[in-house]
Amino acid sequence: MQFAGADTSRTISQSFIYFLSDKPELQAKILEEVDARIYNKSLIDFDALFNSEYFNMMTKESLRRFNPFVTSSPRKLTQDITLGNLKLKKGLNLGFPVLTMHLMEKFHKDALSFDITRHTPENKLKQTKLTFMPFFAGKRICIG
Ligand code: HEM
Repeated sequence: MQFAGADTSRTISQSFIYFLSDKPELQAKILEEVDARIYNKSLIDFDALFNSEYFNMMTKESLRRFNPFVTSSPRKLTQDITLGNLKLKKGLNLGFPVLTMHLMEKFHKDALSFDITRHTPENKLKQTKLTFMPFFAGKRICIG
């Protein structure tokens, strides 16, 4: 739990700040959205930040570009399967290369460039669920 919750949150906060640091226009957009939501309030609350569209897109792109979970924990095959030319036997332990999939040109155009517009509502519809999975998928998906 310590690693699952603390290390991932620390790593993503660092990469978020790193990617945001040289994007003054995005900093301004996030601030603008947060300011609009906290108008007449004396304190920034979490809702103001988490409901910011730009903050959310920024977070998702940081998670895509530098996901703390490089590879998933292993899954054991419960039956023989064939993947392309590969025949995989029941009982085999498989790890999914989450970060590699996030950075594959096949799934993400200009994969190495940091582009938050990949996560606009319209562009999200074009994504396949299993090519962007910062919290992984299936029964053991992140509970945080
Ligand atoms: C941005 C932050 C986080 C990321 C990117 C993240 C990512 C992940 C991923 C990819 C897995 C699945 C690993 C696997 O199956 O191989 C996972 C599992 C898990 N996460 Fe997170 N996580 C984050 C934050 C948190 C937080 C804040 C908590 C707790 C408060 C948490 C608790 C857990 C637990 C307990 C599991 C294991 C679930 C299971 O095996 O059934 N995570 N996380």
